[in-house]
This record gives sequence, C-alpha cells and structure tokens, in this order.
Amino acid sequence: MSDIINVDYREKIPNNVNLTEDRRVLKALEGWHPGYINWWNDMGPEGFQEALVYLRTAVSVDPKGWAKFDYVKMPDYRWGILLAPSEDNRTIPFGEHFGEPVWQEVPGEHRAMIRRLIVIQGDTEPASVEQQRHLGKTAPSLYDMRNLFQINVEEGRHLWAMVYLLHKYFGRDGRDEAEELLRRRSGSADSPRMLGAFNEKTPDWLSLFMFTFFTDRDGKMQLESLAQSGFDPLSRTCRFMLTEEAHHMFVGETGIGRIVQRTCEAMKAAGVDDAHNIDQVRKLGVIDLPTIQKKLNLHYSLSLDLFGSEVSTNAANAFNASVKGRFRETSIDDDHRLKNDIYPVLKLVKGEIKRVNEPALTAINMRLRDDYTRDCAKGIERFNKIIERTDVDFRLALPHVAFHRDIGEFKDVQATPAGKLIDDATWASDKDQWLPSTSDGAFIASLMKPMAEPGQFASWISPPKVGIDNRPGDFEYVKIAA
Ligand SMILES: [Fe+2]
Ligand SMILES: [Fe+2]
Repeated sequence: MSDIINVDYREKIPNNVNLTEDRRVLKALEGWHPGYINWWNDMGPEGFQEALVYLRTAVSVDPKGWAKFDYVKMPDYRWGILLAPSEDNRTIPFGEHFGEPVWQEVPGEHRAMIRRLIVIQGDTEPASVEQQRHLGKTAPSLYDMRNLFQINVEEGRHLWAMVYLLHKYFGRDGRDEAEELLRRRSGSADSPRMLGAFNEKTPDWLSLFMFTFFTDRDGKMQLESLAQSGFDPLSRTCRFMLTEEAHHMFVGETGIGRIVQRTCEAMKAAGVDDAHNIDQVRKLGVIDLPTIQKKLNLHYSLSLDLFGSEVSTNAANAFNASVKGRFRETSIDDDHRLKNDIYPVLKLVKGEIKRVNEPALTAINMRLRDDYTRDCAKGIERFNKIIERTDVDFRLALPHVAFHRDIGEFKDVQATPAGKLIDDATWASDKDQWLPSTSDGAFIASLMKPMAEPGQFASWISPPKVGIDNRPGDFEYVKIAA
C-alpha cells in the first residue's frame, strides 16, 4: 500500500496513487515512459543533459516540507505522479451538480469535455520546455540557470500528471492523446502546440522572465479553475501542480524585478535621469525601461489570448457541467450556478470599446481574465515600487486588453496600449514603439553572455536577495562539467 502523503522513490514511477496495484495503468505508463525520455533528450535543455543541477524533487504532498534538494542530472530526474490528498466529503462547489458529492470516475456525458481540457492543459507543459531549451547557454548566472532547469523538469512532471489522468480514466483514446502530446512541437509548421503563446519563441532571458510572469500565471488561473472541478482526480492533480507553479511565477517576478533594479541603479550611478534616453541607458550595459515595457506589452497580450473569447458557450458549458469553475470559487458569495446573473464584458460596439452586461455563465472566461489582470497588476505595482525607491522617473503599466490581440472581441481591430482604436496604417507605422522591434531584440541578444562561475551575474541583472534552499551567493547551483 503506498501512502498518499509520502512518495516512494524505490518505484520506477514514483507516485502516491497506488500504481503498483493498478496494473493496467502502470503498464500503460511504463509503455509511455521511453517515449517521454526520448522527448526529453531531444527537446529538453540543450547542452546540459550531463550537468549536475541542484534541483528540488517532490517527496511528499504535505504543504509543509514537500521537497528535497540535491544534485541530479536532468534525464535522471524522478518525474513522479502526485495528487494532493483528497478532502473528506468534498462536494461539487458550482454548476448543475452543485452540492453533490464529487466524482471519482468521469461521468459519461462529460467525458469528451474533460478529456479536451486535460489535453489542452497537458499540451502547454512540454511546449514551454521546448520554447526554453536554448536558454541554458546564455544564463546570466548559475542561480538563474538552475531556476530555469527546475521549471523545465517540473513542466515535464506536469505533463506526467496529465498523462496519468488520460491513461487512468480515458482508456484507448486517452493513450492516443498521450502519444500526441509527445508528437506535437512548439513552433512546428506541421504539428504545432495547441495554443498560440506556446508556439512563440523565447529568445532571451527577459522573454523567459516575462513568460514565467505572464504565461505561467495564466497556467495558475487555469489550474485554479480546474482545481475546483467536480472530477476529483483532476482537482487533486491541479492542486498539487499549483504548489510547484508558485516557484515558476516567483522566477518571473523576481527576474523582472532584478532587471528593473539593475537598470535603475546603473542609471543613478551614471547620472542618467531620462529613462527614455535609450542610447544612453543601453551604453551602461543594462536594459532600458521602455524596452522592458515593450516586452511586457507583448507577453501580456499573448497571454490574454489564452483565456479564449470573452463570451463563450464552451466556457459556460464547462461551468454548467461542474467541470471547470471560477478562480477561488468556494470563496465567492453567490449561488454558484449563475443562472440569472450578469457580468460586465468589454466589447466592441459600433466601433467603440464599451462595457456590456452579458449572462455571467457565458462570461466565465472574461471573469477569469479579469482575475488574472488583477493578479498581474499587483506584480507591476511591485516593479514600480522598485523604480520609485531609486528615484527614477518611470512607471510600468499593463497595456489595454484591446492591444495586440488575436482572439476574442478585439482580434480584428488595432489599438494603442492606452486603448485608443487606430487604423491599420497607424498600427503599421507605430507598432515598434509598443512591441519589441528587431533592433530591440538584437540589443537584448547582445547582452546574453553566459555567466558560468559561481556567484557571477551578468551586467544587466541584480543578484537575488536570497539563494535557493538558503544557499550562499557563491553556491554552485549547476556543475556544468559533470
Ligand atoms: Fe506547468
Ligand atoms: Fe509553470
């Protein structure tokens, strides 16, 4: 009998779901395992598969003390299947089945919907590893390199988490979907990943930090709403993934914060007052704040597209079916069925951006996106505090939701970051002021020089305040020549 809190690492596939007594699923996962390792070797961090990396591995699902740290070669990382402990007598917190006991099996009528949601979530996990696979070579420190690899192995584990659900609950078609998850490739013309933001490039470390700040945060919102699901194994899986996801956003937020800090300090030291004097700032070997704002505009707008259309019958159906809830569903004070409720949605009405009341059920995506925007805005304010403390006159801001969109209400119009609608010609002539241009990309690329000595940091980023696992500043987080 395996234990649901602690994970037994003597087993080939570490887990807390009693796999040894589930021969059918164990066999299916053992069959999938070699393909996964091949994928990791082909698409995982390029050039560092032999390095010893100071990684955390989940050894328990107890929120206090669930991980241990040790040096591991990434291909030897123990990707386990971990579900948060089940809550006693949990009932469904929303939708038509509100108040009923949660399901331990997939209800037949919602099977296709649940499978689709698992596949979409599962597809994002390996995609980000593929997008980030070249970044190890330009890491600004061993500390940052280790954080990147930690995220990568955990996204690999998230893939395992989704594949377990597919194998366990969806039989033949679940196994087929699990194979497809290893076949698609980020950015591929023939078989791309399923969602737009996961086919974009992550060319440099500022992009990586923006991605983990904005796109992993979309992941958090999706996992939060799936953690509410009436399908309990999905809920428990997502709850444990969220504990890992917190580190990914930490990497994004502290990464951007450290870049902003370094830029402002360098400006002060050199007596540069005008944050918009890009040439002067760049000569200091740091990334100017307007370029950071452009990267922010890009990644925020790409991530907004991940929420889908503002008004969506798919989202309404998933809520109604008690399959996918809202952010912090159980702490919302309403009837959790939303049959008669309304929710304000930003829409394009006769060429103007207006707030329009829509049935709350069909506006589920909009609501989740609003929760996401609030979460992002808090982070932006923390960056602004860093800028204020150095007395530099500049503020970062989220662009308007109509800016640079490919999905939803604003996909067919052009808008400025302030939300002013503009024509295509104005967009074409001005967009380089708002999104990273080729020359911005080339400048950032010129700064991406690897720093591979313990305690060394690139010129454009401040060291972190504390080390991982409380290690000292000169700790050797990655032993490259292993
Ligand atoms: Fe993930
Ligand atoms: Fe993540």
